[in-house]
Amino acid sequence: MRQVETVAALRAALRDAPRPVGLAPTMGALHDGHLALVRAARSECATVAATIFVNPTQFGPNEDLDRYPRSLAADLALLEREDVDCVFTPSVDEMYPAGFTTTVHMDGPALPLEGAARPGHFDGVATVVAKLLLQSLPDRAYLGRKDGQQTAVVRRLVRDLDIPVEIVVVPTVREADGLAMSSRNAYLTPEQRAAAPVVFRALSASRDRFRAGQQDVAALEDAARRMIEASPLASVEYVAGVDPDTMAPWGGLGPCMLAAAVRIGGVRLIDNVILD
Ligand code: PAJ
Repeated sequence: MRQVETVAALRAALRDAPRPVGLAPTMGALHDGHLALVRAARSECATVAATIFVNPTQFGPNEDLDRYPRSLAADLALLEREDVDCVFTPSVDEMYPAGFTTTVHMDGPALPLEGAARPGHFDGVATVVAKLLLQSLPDRAYLGRKDGQQTAVVRRLVRDLDIPVEIVVVPTVREADGLAMSSRNAYLTPEQRAAAPVVFRALSASRDRFRAGQQDVAALEDAARRMIEASPLASVEYVAGVDPDTMAPWGGLGPCMLAAAVRIGGVRLIDNVILD
């Protein structure tokens, strides 16, 4: 595995690499959810590249940029074990050199839910993902279903900017009790960790009712919200049934993404299930 820290070295490493090239962009603190992206890429691509970059522009001023978990040595060992060919670990200065002034601003799927709760977040995501894709020019980029709105934003981004890459969405990897794996789970106290699976339990219960014929999404949102808030540690920011492409409220046709953001203590968790 080659570790490269500059855009020039990344380009040189991938220029003559066997194709297809698959890219798994991450912010590090890797867990099995991230590794699922790498494994999907490894099974489908001749060359696998991963990126580790805690992108400051997607964090709000009061968010957890400074305390975001970082474990580069362990991450590199994990990627090596997954037979990754190349890992890009740029510095903030390499990605945002002095004088950097361009931002990819997105409306549409970037506006509701996470976009409303975290102003500027998806502009930061769109900007860094556009840069990473243009720096590495992969054939496929692998994203996790867990960040369902992010997948919609990135699919829109590559369509709107004609970036020639196929976006592959990988199913959410969960702990045994259903909690979606997330680098932020490390912030949970044991008591909060014990409460956290209620989010997926509630979303799953609504999915079961949908499959049994309950198509009134407002009722399913309410039921999930009530079930989560029955836990004294959890407070719901939103539970919303939306179109998985546009993120607009579900119109009754096609699959529905039931997405939730929940605070457990000071920790903000997101998850979603597809109702189909
Ligand atoms: P990060 O939170 O590190 O996640 C990197 C990728 O791993 C994302 O595509 C995310 O959806 C996926 N992922 C995280 N947890 C997962 C799980 N439990 N199951 C499946 N996939 C999971 O998302 C980001 O970083 C950043 O916004 C990034 C796209 C790298 C841009 O900075």
